Amino acid sequence: MNFKDTIEEQYSKYRLNNYGSPTITLVKGKGEHVWDDNGRKYLDFSTGIATTALGHCHPALVTAIQKQAETLIHVSNLYRIEPQGKLAEALVSKAGPGRVFFCNSGAESSEALIKLSRLFGIHKSGTENPATTVIVSNNGFHGRTFGGMSATPQEKIQNGFFPMLPNFPVGKMNDIQSFAELVDDHTAAILIEPIQGEGGIHVASKEFLQDLRSLCDEKNILLLMDEVQSGTGRTGDFFAYEIADIKPDAIGMAKGLGGGFPIGAVWITEDKADLFKPGSHGSTFGGNPLACAAALAVLDTIDSENLLTRVKELSAPWIEQLNQLKETHEIITDIRGRGFLIGIDFSEDPTPIQKKLEDRGLLTVRAGGNVLRLLPPLTVAESSLNESIEILSSVLNESTVPLSN
Ligand SMILES: Cc1ncc(COP(=O)(O)O)c(C=O)c1O
Repeated sequence: MNFKDTIEEQYSKYRLNNYGSPTITLVKGKGEHVWDDNGRKYLDFSTGIATTALGHCHPALVTAIQKQAETLIHVSNLYRIEPQGKLAEALVSKAGPGRVFFCNSGAESSEALIKLSRLFGIHKSGTENPATTVIVSNNGFHGRTFGGMSATPQEKIQNGFFPMLPNFPVGKMNDIQSFAELVDDHTAAILIEPIQGEGGIHVASKEFLQDLRSLCDEKNILLLMDEVQSGTGRTGDFFAYEIADIKPDAIGMAKGLGGGFPIGAVWITEDKADLFKPGSHGSTFGGNPLACAAALAVLDTIDSENLLTRVKELSAPWIEQLNQLKETHEIITDIRGRGFLIGIDFSEDPTPIQKKLEDRGLLTVRAGGNVLRLLPPLTVAESSLNESIEILSSVLNESTVPLSN
C-alpha cells in the first residue's frame, strides 16, 4: 500500500471518529505555508486553530525545542526547573503582579479557573453554603472537559453528555444588565472570552469589559478571562482584554503560547493566588521543560520581532480589504474581530466556500453560526495577506453574484 492508502486506512480503521474524516494529509510546514502529501502548497490561515503563532517551524522555536530536548525533557513538578521559573516570571511581566499555574491545554486552563472560583466561593461564603455559581456568556466556549463543557452554553457541544455540572447561568455578550441580573449571593465568578473564538468571533466591547470589572468589584466576585484563543498577541495586544484598560482576577492561556507545542497556563492576581495551597491542584506534565522552553521562545520572538506592532500595522489594511469584499458581496453579512483573529460571517452555510478556498490553496477554520475564521500567524508576510484577499475575491466572485458598486 502506498503512503496515502496506508494513512487513510489507519485513520478510518483505528482513529476514533470524533473529528470525522479529514481530507487533507499535511506533511510539512514553513512560515505561513503547509504542504500536503502530493506536494501541494497551502496558505495556512488555520494555524492549528489559532496556535502556531510564529508560523510553522520558526527557527527560534525549533532551536529552543531541540536544545531543551537534548538537555531535559520531563521531570514533573516535584522538582524545580529553570524554564518554568523563567516563563512564570515572563507571564507575570505581561499580566501584572500574580502567580502562574501551568497545564497542557486550554480546557485544563478553564478547569483551573473553575477550581479557583470554587476556592474563592468557599473563602467568601464559607464551606456550609459556598458561592458556586460562575456566570458565562452565550456563544462562549471554554473546552471539552466536563467543567469546560458545562461553562460552554452551546447545544452542539453539550448534547449527548447531559447532565452538565450545575450553576453556570448564561448572560448575553455585551449586555451588562443580563449579567447583573444573574448575580446573587451564590455568585463566585464571571468567566468570559474577550473575543469569542469558537462561538463565531463575537467581540466584547471595551465598555462591556469595563462594566463587568465594575460589577465584579461591586459584588465581590472574580472576573475570569479566557484568553486561550485571543491571547499571546493574536489581536495585536498581548491579551485582548487590554483594550479595555482593566485587570482580570485570573487569565486562562494556551494555544499560541507554545507556538504549536502543547501548553496551558493560568495567571492569578497576587491576592487570590494563595487560594491554591500545596496539594489543591496539579498536573504531571504541566509546565514541563520542553513546553516552557517552547513558550519562552514564543514570548522572546514576539518581543524581538516586534510582533504586536506588526499585527496591528498589517491587520488594519487587510481588515479594510475584507470589509471591501463585504461591500461588494451580499453573501458576507459581517467582518468581526481584531488583529489576526477575524471572522467572516456569511448569510448561508459557508462550507462550499471553505472547500473552494481550500481548493485554491487557502486554509480557514469554521466557527459558530455561518462564520469562517481567518487566523494568520503573527509573522505572516504582507504579500500572503494580499494573496488571501485575491483567493477570497476570486472564490466569492464565482460563488455569488457580486454587487455592482
Ligand atoms: C477560548 C477557548 N477556551 C478553551 C479552549 C479549549 O482549548 P483546548 O482545545 O486546548 O482544550 C478553546 C479551544 O478552542 C478556546 O478557544
